[in-house]
Amino acid sequence: MAFKENLKNIAKVKNTRIVLALDLQENVYTKPRDVRVKLRQELLSKACDILSEVENYVTAVKIGLPLVLDVGLDGVEQLINSFKPRMLFICDFKIADVGFINKLVVNQAFSAGFDAVITHSAIGVEEGIKPISELAHSLNKGVLAVCAMTHSGAQSFLNKHFMELLKLAYEAEVDGFVLPATYPEYISEARRLYVDALILSPGVGVQGAAYGSAIKAGADFEIVGRAIYGALNPRKAAEDVVKAIEEATKQR
Ligand code: XMP
Repeated sequence: MAFKENLKNIAKVKNTRIVLALDLQENVYTKPRDVRVKLRQELLSKACDILSEVENYVTAVKIGLPLVLDVGLDGVEQLINSFKPRMLFICDFKIADVGFINKLVVNQAFSAGFDAVITHSAIGVEEGIKPISELAHSLNKGVLAVCAMTHSGAQSFLNKHFMELLKLAYEAEVDGFVLPATYPEYISEARRLYVDALILSPGVGVQGAAYGSAIKAGADFEIVGRAIYGALNPRKAAEDVVKAIEEATKQR
């Protein structure tokens, strides 16, 4: 099944619109080499425990460089194999290189079991995003493009080009956009222009936007990281976020 459809189906079955950003990290490189194997195992085991606790509340898990650089792609592959197909896995390397290199990296991510990758839209269509989306779709995988970002610095350049970035991503036939909950006006505009696009939105929780605010603006999913994996009780935290989103979106 195609990524977008699969993600929506899981969301329906579990009745949740959360994508968990699993940014666990120990920086094993500050420790002597001989203890790193053990540290990596401990980190993987912690990641596994968290996913077991929250899996009923989460549709997909977004994993980026912090965890991959610590446990390696082998470690992440193990994690993916333990939880697929109950949750999907999105690789967040925010790809921004030339097409040839992008394809090498994306092939590695897909071979390790990821279901989708996140790329920057600013690299453009030809020899940028297009080779990624062609490869992804030939394997029934997905591509999401960052077209605006959550942090204040994004307003000084990237976000000013939001409309052009959306257009590039759409032309490159991505499955969806990553748009900031901290600037919900971008989400509303993208939803208005691209009715069928999948929209994933970080920025709720620790970054300040209210739970449910991105969905109210038109997003399909809210990406939540520290508020869940950093909580003393990740299961309870995930359950609370699901409820908060439900509550906020009821009054739609
Ligand atoms: P927290 O802990 O803040 O984690 O809930 C947020 C996650 O989302 C990512 N992030 C972004 N990803 N565009 C993106 O593509 C953004 O504007 C953006 N802001 C935050 C971040 O990498 C983390 O995993």
